[in-house]
Amino acid sequence: MLIAQISDTHILVPKSDHPAAELRADCLRRTVADINQQRPDAVIFTGDTVQHGQPEEYARLRELLAPLEKPLYLVPGNRDDKKELRAAFGDHIYMRSTGEFLHYTVEDYDTRLVGIDSTLEAGRKGRFCEARQAWLDATLGEQPDRPTLLFIHHPPFDVGDHYVGGYRRPDEAAALKDIVKRHPQVTGLLCGHVHWPVERAWAGTEARIMPSIAVDVRKGIDEAEARQRPIYLLHQLSGDSGLISQPRRVGADASFGT
Ligand SMILES: [Fe+2]
Repeated sequence: MLIAQISDTHILVPKSDHPAAELRADCLRRTVADINQQRPDAVIFTGDTVQHGQPEEYARLRELLAPLEKPLYLVPGNRDDKKELRAAFGDHIYMRSTGEFLHYTVEDYDTRLVGIDSTLEAGRKGRFCEARQAWLDATLGEQPDRPTLLFIHHPPFDVGDHYVGGYRRPDEAAALKDIVKRHPQVTGLLCGHVHWPVERAWAGTEARIMPSIAVDVRKGIDEAEARQRPIYLLHQLSGDSGLISQPRRVGADASFGT
């Protein structure tokens, strides 16, 4: 199974006077075109889809995502407004229109997908409160033998000196780790939020953070050649090897596995 991950597009309205409005739209447009060429089974979007959570931004986001040929699964980031996100993507059947948390499972693939909502009503930091802990523990307990991929906006671990986000309560990030440790069918955890690429072992599995698709706020990619080129991740999942992740430079010629 092949999954494309996109994150942190921070889309702005066309009339925005922000200098990066067109650049960010172009980054997502080119990324969508490249993903269509790679033909993954599904696309996961780990939040911060727009900059201010406004309906006009979500309308533009939908326009830019419209050409995507494969199913898309979104979780919110701290920049998202859940009410507006739900309104804009109301036709996405996995996204329940009510309820405090925008979390869900996708049962359509060999690997089970579990989207986790780590957002607060207001504020930049992550939450993984007791209600969400209970939901994830019970959800993972339902199918203990099925490979499962988790995705969430906020990484539940520190990322060097530059990690200024994190969780409002560190014990909640620790609780997420404890739950995942108890469910060894978890193949990996995909995250966004910090805008730079990280691969690490975590909670007995593998965690990945992807760089932001918006290149003007991307960190940790220093090569001049990549400066205006969005980079997304392709994750290959198999029972034998677990999670194999490869950065895909939009516009580059090489495809996954070559
Ligand atoms: Fe972001």
